[in-house]
Amino acid sequence: MSQDAITSLLKETRRFEPPAEFSRRARVGAQATYEALYRESIEQPDAFWRRETSDLVFRTPWTTISDWSLPHAKWFLGATLNVTESCLDRHLTTATKNKAAIIWEGEHGATRTLTYAQLHRETLLLADALKRLGIEKGDRVAIYMGMVPEVAVAMLACARLGAVHTVVFGGFAADALRDRIHDSQAKLVITQDGAYRRGQVVPLKATVDKALAQPEAKSATRVVVYQHLGKERCEVQMTEGRDVFWHDLLAGAAPACEPTVVDAEHPLFILYTSGSTGKPKGVLHTTAGYLVGAHVTTKYVFDLRDDDVYWCTADVGWVTGHSYIVYGPLSNGATCLMYEGAPNFPDWGRFWRLIEKHGVTILYTAPTAIRAFMRQGDEWPAKSDLSSLRLLGSVGEPINPEAWIWYHRTIGGGRCPIVDTWWQTETGSIMMTTLPGASFSKPGSTGLPMFGVVPEVVTKDGKPVAAGEGGLLVLKQAWPSMLRTVWGDDDRFRKQYFSDVEGCYFTGDGARRDEDGYFWVVGRIDDVLNVAGHRIGTAEIESALVSHPSVAEAAAVGRPDDLKGQALVVFVSLRPGVKAGPELQAKLAEHVAKEIGKFARPDAIRFADALPKTRSGKIMRRLLKDVAAGRELTGDTSTLEDLTVMAKLRQQEEE
Ligand code: WTA
Repeated sequence: MSQDAITSLLKETRRFEPPAEFSRRARVGAQATYEALYRESIEQPDAFWRRETSDLVFRTPWTTISDWSLPHAKWFLGATLNVTESCLDRHLTTATKNKAAIIWEGEHGATRTLTYAQLHRETLLLADALKRLGIEKGDRVAIYMGMVPEVAVAMLACARLGAVHTVVFGGFAADALRDRIHDSQAKLVITQDGAYRRGQVVPLKATVDKALAQPEAKSATRVVVYQHLGKERCEVQMTEGRDVFWHDLLAGAAPACEPTVVDAEHPLFILYTSGSTGKPKGVLHTTAGYLVGAHVTTKYVFDLRDDDVYWCTADVGWVTGHSYIVYGPLSNGATCLMYEGAPNFPDWGRFWRLIEKHGVTILYTAPTAIRAFMRQGDEWPAKSDLSSLRLLGSVGEPINPEAWIWYHRTIGGGRCPIVDTWWQTETGSIMMTTLPGASFSKPGSTGLPMFGVVPEVVTKDGKPVAAGEGGLLVLKQAWPSMLRTVWGDDDRFRKQYFSDVEGCYFTGDGARRDEDGYFWVVGRIDDVLNVAGHRIGTAEIESALVSHPSVAEAAAVGRPDDLKGQALVVFVSLRPGVKAGPELQAKLAEHVAKEIGKFARPDAIRFADALPKTRSGKIMRRLLKDVAAGRELTGDTSTLEDLTVMAKLRQQEEE
């Protein structure tokens, strides 16, 4: 977010009350009701969660609500379940059976609908087929697909067997996929031939081939290929003995696969996310706690009603897609729209036509998309009838008040409440928001804590700061959908989240809380960037760059950007004899895209003779941030080892 945007966010005082008509029909229609529920969730968690999960399927009820032996939390101890019974089987005995679970639209306009009965059948078929391939409880399965209903089928089929899925966003490059397969030791990869993105074919299977050609990925001995585009549009190479087409596999399967009943704390999935070192962290979520978090937040935050058509525009490869396209909506029996392609294909009117065509009532998207639409002008949304919408949501980064107001007026017609939901891959489900029928919202504020969540803004020593003052955002108590560890690296889990502030979970975000108790999240204060809503670790970019033979050292920083929130700027110093220039810039940008993925391509690459360092040799990113933003240097430079380095960098800028 740009400096101006942050300033205006800090001065924002407008309030928007929930429309009376909305509150009248809402699940929670008054602030006092929210407060009573919240209090109960903290003071009587067992009673609260028992009531709120009465519609989920537990084979054995829990005996103990939770156990937090810092830093490890356990929830719903003693319970056994299989999440697919809550997401699928339970709907087959009600009218939901023949209701649309997923309405899919491809980038080229093809549509498909899967009812709950069909989704159940597809899931059981695939689960049975995977079982025949030797997949068992606890095995890891990597899923590398685009936005097709089969990605949900693949996730649920793993869950049916108690296998642990790790979905890798389809925008990641082969090397990033290889690393995730290696780290999780996945036995199998589920992929598709290709996907459409902005009119182009993204060859997913070919990328899997590249990843698996490397010895680090040798754990994956089988590949299942879903044919989405077909032979004419996307030819694939099948490796004999390793690869099998989804349809061939299913031909020999039966739509009968008993769910593997697992313990509450059995791993459900691993999702890799960026942290402050070069290696992405495998965030581990477990069965009961995650399901409960996703289920209860979806129901309340989106105020779900039976006739809603709900659309979360995230990709399933990110946590928002896991919780708010798959597990949360399906466990609630909701109808979800799933769209395959880009928001601006073939033009900037696509989203709004999708809403009109499918009668979308709830839209959940990201500020970066809202800003991009805003920039294109009001004429695009004006071409479609958006009157079906009743609720809007925002996630992924702070929303600047201008974008909030535009979203409210132009998309929501002034009648739809906006929920600004703060949470993280690690938290599994929404931690802060306003409930749409209960609390007023303030543009730019993420509102109040969700049930069972105890956020606080503190100093480094863990002392609460006064209202209105900035500090570190921590969560003081364990919550059901909390990550349980970092896969294979419990030390990193402790260090990353529990060493900065004693006795609580540190989010990595800076925030303040105002006089009304509303939270305002400013953004990451660690070495993680938020570029167009994608979490990118500066260390990952840097290690990608130094793996290039021309680069000696690299430092990545964020620069405020009106559209993307942050733009990625890298400073590199070159090996002796290497010539700087636009050609090398292009090569390095390409190199990062190849190592990580196109979404991580730097916005600017600057060459430096040397990078500013402290006397102990640490790169001073703070100073580089100022240079990248074209700001006067702020703060202390006394620890800088060689002052001339900064002078040179600034001089370069003036040239
Ligand atoms: C940021 C995405 C402000 C924050 C669900 C967090 C937000 C990181 C908001 C997690 C919001 C997410 N307002 N900032 N409503 N939502 N963030 O893991 O910095 O991809 O720590 O999870 O996004 O990103 P992640």
